[in-house]
Amino acid sequence: MDESQLRPERMPRHVAIIMDGNGRWAESRGASRVEGHRAGLESCREVLRSASDLGIENLTLYAFSLENWSRPKAEVRDLMHLLETYLDEEIEEVDRNGVRVLAIGRNDRLPPSVRARVDAAVERTQHNRAMTLVFALSYGGRAEIVDAAKGIARDVAAGRVDPDRIDEKTFASYLYAPEVPDPDLLIRTGAEMRVSNFLLWQIAYTEIYTTAVMWPDFRRKHLVEAIVDYQKRERRFGMTSAQVSEAAQRDG
Ligand code: IPE
Ligand code: IPE
Ligand code: MG
Repeated sequence: MDESQLRPERMPRHVAIIMDGNGRWAESRGASRVEGHRAGLESCREVLRSASDLGIENLTLYAFSLENWSRPKAEVRDLMHLLETYLDEEIEEVDRNGVRVLAIGRNDRLPPSVRARVDAAVERTQHNRAMTLVFALSYGGRAEIVDAAKGIARDVAAGRVDPDRIDEKTFASYLYAPEVPDPDLLIRTGAEMRVSNFLLWQIAYTEIYTTAVMWPDFRRKHLVEAIVDYQKRERRFGMTSAQVSEAAQRDG
């Protein structure tokens, strides 16, 4: 993919990725699933660097879902261990490059060793503003919506929120990372066509791109391909094509 096809004025502000296919990538090579996860870490590194390079302000990586807790114990343990390694090895560079780290999900379920590293990364990078990297860890979209509903219910019970004044904006402010804009582009690798409980509220108008490339094979050129595809689309947000063109002309 030729990067000159990229239009800098139409860069997505937020790219979210469902990093899928590690297991199949490994199995097709006769390797164990953990080898696939290990290889997937290299893709994380490259994609983070490329995203930063390309001027993407927010990148969300779906690293572990709430449903993934049901995987075999040994695989969960391997994944947690790899997460620790990743955080230990990357935090220096991440911080140096001005990347702010956020974590979304039910992190109380994470092993203390992982949670401590995640908390430390979030705290250490909290004032960085060059880019935001959101890790979805022990994350479920429905759980996030339930947690937001609980937060609002508490504030209503305490008299801090008037139920009649709750609108979409109020609701969204109770989600895990309200400061991050909704994703413009959602990429799923690994040839599946489903959302798997990812960012259910936030993807209402997100453009979806899927690829058969397995996550361990995903490289900068694949990210560029996805963005070029995204940039060719017309986002109508329920309007007609004519309205969208008019608005674009008006706004120059
Ligand atoms: C994605 O790869 C990583 C996680 C879900 C943690 P998978 O492990 O789901 O790989 P496949 O889908 O089995 O190939
Ligand atoms: C989605 O992948 C979760 C992550 C990438 C972390 P899965 O492999 O868990 O999704 P399903 O089970 O195929 O839907
Ligand atoms: Mg999978």
